[in-house]
Amino acid sequence: MAEKTTGKPATGKPTVAIVGAGSLATFLAVALNDAGFTITEIVARDSPRSRRHARSLAAKVGAQTVTAHSAVLDATLLWFCVPDREIRGAASALADHLAARALAHKKGKVRFAFHSSGALLSRELEPLRKAGAAVASVHPLMTFVAEARPSLTGVPFAMEGDDAATRVARRIVREMGGESFSLPAARKAAYHAWATLTSPLLLAFLVTIEEAARAAGLTRQDARRKSLPIIRQTLANYSRLGPAQSFSGPLVRGDAETVARHLAVLKKHPGAREVYVALARAALRGLPVKNRDGLKRLLRD
Ligand SMILES: NC(=O)c1ccc[n+]([C@@H]2O[C@H](COP(=O)([O-])OP(=O)(O)OC[C@H]3O[C@@H](n4cnc5c(N)ncnc54)[C@H](OP(=O)(O)O)[C@@H]3O)[C@@H](O)[C@H]2O)c1
Repeated sequence: MAEKTTGKPATGKPTVAIVGAGSLATFLAVALNDAGFTITEIVARDSPRSRRHARSLAAKVGAQTVTAHSAVLDATLLWFCVPDREIRGAASALADHLAARALAHKKGKVRFAFHSSGALLSRELEPLRKAGAAVASVHPLMTFVAEARPSLTGVPFAMEGDDAATRVARRIVREMGGESFSLPAARKAAYHAWATLTSPLLLAFLVTIEEAARAAGLTRQDARRKSLPIIRQTLANYSRLGPAQSFSGPLVRGDAETVARHLAVLKKHPGAREVYVALARAALRGLPVKNRDGLKRLLRD
C-alpha cells in the first residue's frame, strides 16, 4: 500500500483514523464523516480479506487504506474498533510504528486514542499513552450489524479514561447525537454484563421463544411472524407503563396449574424449559406475582 499524506481537518474538529473495518468501524466511520469529521485512514491487518473490507470502508468516507506498518498516522485521534482481544496488540503495533516514524523525523500527530470495548478499560491503550496520547474507552450502548444503520440520537456512550480524552470524546459523541456518561473503572465489567443482556442475550431469548414455539407445532419463521405483534406491544408497554403495569399472564394471576402444564410439556424441550424456569424465578423476584409460595414450590424442582 502506498504511503500518502491524507486529509487535513477542514473544520477544526479532530481528524480520525479508524483501526478495523468490521461492524462498529463501518458504522462509526460513516457516522463521524456525516457529522463533519475527516477520516484520514482505515488501518487494516495485512491480509487480503482485511484489506478488502478496509478498502470498501475507506472508499465510503474518502480515507486511505493502510496497515499498522504503512500508516501515516496524521490524524489527531486513533479509534480502535477491533475485537477486545486485539486492542492491546493493535495499540502496541501502532505505538511502535509511531516511535519508528519519530526516529525517522516523521512525527505523527496522534494526541488521543479511544477503544470501544464495553468490558475493557482504557488502560488497554497503555502503549499509546506511553507514547504521549490521552486515552479513553468510549462504548456506545447500541447494536451494530451489517445490514442496519441505527440512529445515534439519544444513544448513551459509556466513558472512562484520561480527562483530556474523555473531554474530546464527549464533544464527538454530542456532535453525532449521542449522550455521554462517565463509568467508574471498577464498574465496567458489570456494565458490560448488563449491556450484553440488553441485546445479544435478548436475541438469545427470542431464539428460545422460537424453540418453544416448535413444541406448539410452529416453524421458526411462523413463530417469528406470529410473535412480533405481542413482542412489540410488550416493549411499548414497558417503555410507557414500566415493568409492573406491563406484566400479564399466569404468573401475575397466580395460576400455578397452568404453569405446571407448561413445565410438563416443555420437558421435551429442555433448553426452552431451563430458560422458562429461570425467567419465571426472575418474575418472582422482580414482578407482582400472585400465589408466590405455590409458584415458588413448583419452580424449585
Ligand atoms: N458491533 C457492536 O454492536 C458493538 C457495539 C458496541 C461496541 N462494540 C465494540 O467494538 C469493537 C469491535 O467490535 P465489532 O463488532 O465491530 O467487531 P467485528 O465486526 O468483528 O470487527 C472487528 C474488526 O477488527 C479487525 N481487526 C482485528 N484485529 C485487528 C488488528 N490487529 N488490526 C486492525 N484490524 C483488526 C477485523 O478485521 P479482520 O479480522 O478482517 O482482520 C474487523 O474488521 C469491540 O471492542 C466491541 O466490543 C461493538
